Amino acid sequence: MQTATGTAPADALEQKIKSRTARVGIIGLGYVGLPLAVEFAKAGFSVTGIDVQESKVARLNAGESYVQDVPAATLAPLIDSQKFRATTDFAAVAELDTINIAVPTPLRKTKDPDMSHIVAACQQVARFLSPGKLVILESTTYPGTTDELVLPMLEQPGLKVGEQFFLCFSPERVDPGNPRYQTANIPKVVGGITPACTRLGALFYSQAIEKVVPVSSTSVAEMVKLLENTFRMINIGLANEMALMCDRMGINVWEVIEAAATKPFGFMPFYPGPGLGGHCIPIDPFYLSWKTKQAGIEARFIELAGYINGQMPHFVVDKIQNALNDQSKPIKGSHIHILGVAYKRNIDDVRESPALDVILLLERRGARITYSDPFVPKLALDHHELATTEPVASSASADCVVVVTDHSCFDYASIVQCSPLIVDTRNALKNFASSKIVRL
Ligand SMILES: NC(=O)c1ccc[n+]([C@@H]2O[C@H](COP(=O)([O-])OP(=O)(O)OC[C@H]3O[C@@H](n4cnc5c(N)ncnc54)[C@H](O)[C@@H]3O)[C@@H](O)[C@H]2O)c1
Repeated sequence: MQTATGTAPADALEQKIKSRTARVGIIGLGYVGLPLAVEFAKAGFSVTGIDVQESKVARLNAGESYVQDVPAATLAPLIDSQKFRATTDFAAVAELDTINIAVPTPLRKTKDPDMSHIVAACQQVARFLSPGKLVILESTTYPGTTDELVLPMLEQPGLKVGEQFFLCFSPERVDPGNPRYQTANIPKVVGGITPACTRLGALFYSQAIEKVVPVSSTSVAEMVKLLENTFRMINIGLANEMALMCDRMGINVWEVIEAAATKPFGFMPFYPGPGLGGHCIPIDPFYLSWKTKQAGIEARFIELAGYINGQMPHFVVDKIQNALNDQSKPIKGSHIHILGVAYKRNIDDVRESPALDVILLLERRGARITYSDPFVPKLALDHHELATTEPVASSASADCVVVVTDHSCFDYASIVQCSPLIVDTRNALKNFASSKIVRL
């Protein structure tokens, strides 16, 4: 089948991508979708972002960014020059040539994949799909999603994949808060349903991203992401188990890891901590274990690492209780000040943050909690909300301070000086020697 201009859809799309006249659409304007939209707008494409949240769309159209890695100074000129606009109206898909989907993929309480956002987005894309469009799923998901779930939703009579429209999966590898590696210089893996899909997907990304890595199928591309995140999750689990063992034997685990990391080959350091956090590492491996169970294989490394990592908030809270008891203070009624509640250093994201578990467990034991986090002004907990406080003054008035997230902006010297007791779960105080410091 040919397009209205008489050229085959693949050739027409190729020309539009190469001349950067393709109209690019990004569905889901969060930590992944917004930086991607901005990157393509910066490369000269006309970009339309679609999101279901009206407040986000309104902020973007006013030139305001809510994603730390996208400064307003970068976004605002793209809005002003109409290279980028945001909308809640899916009818915009009709006008687009390429559509990237970057919507959330959370877990249900049962640890099963929640595909509702992908399904909702694809239903909308299907309504407005026409020959010559390239659709790329970027949401992290189980292997087989693009082929088994997305393709049947999109393929229609007269719209055959690889001929009239093109479908790929490309995993997102963004590392929020990483100043060295951002969307444009992180290599992009892409796999299509057919070779024509892969070729167009790779051509598309190569316009805005430095290195593109084509793979043979959508399932390979989906599995790449799960290998990367499972690798991290399991190695963090090993580091956490090392911490538990070292604690029992009175060995400083941080010193062990630092010395082991001097080996110039065959070792890569991972670090223990108060538990896993973020939208990826604690969640994605369970997408894989859910899928492999259906294939009759138990993902045992994942389950074991998940168990060990899940014990860490409990271990930290036991450590706090023991440290207070050593000072003849009961945990019940003690004032505990938490330093850092984001899931990792120097970012503002609290999704799945271990701080939430640590606070909950401490409150259950009767402790009174305050926190400081310059990136997180307010913290919503199960039944109440806390607001950030000044770190040094709060540390001075607390019975115990707990470093949960090691933001670089904290004045650790003053905090060590004024606090009666500090539990450090991140080795933030490695250069301080004091009997007041209890290390993980
Ligand atoms: N945040 C990361 O560091 C990261 C890294 C790699 C991969 N990922 C993956 O990328 C995907 C997106 O993650 P994120 O962190 O950007 O999530 P996010 O919550 O920051 O953003 C998702 C956006 O999608 C919107 N949305 C939800 N349903 C929608 C729908 N049906 N149509 C249109 N918009 C919809 C939400 O309103 C939100 O703005 C997830 O699968 C995640 O696992 C995230």
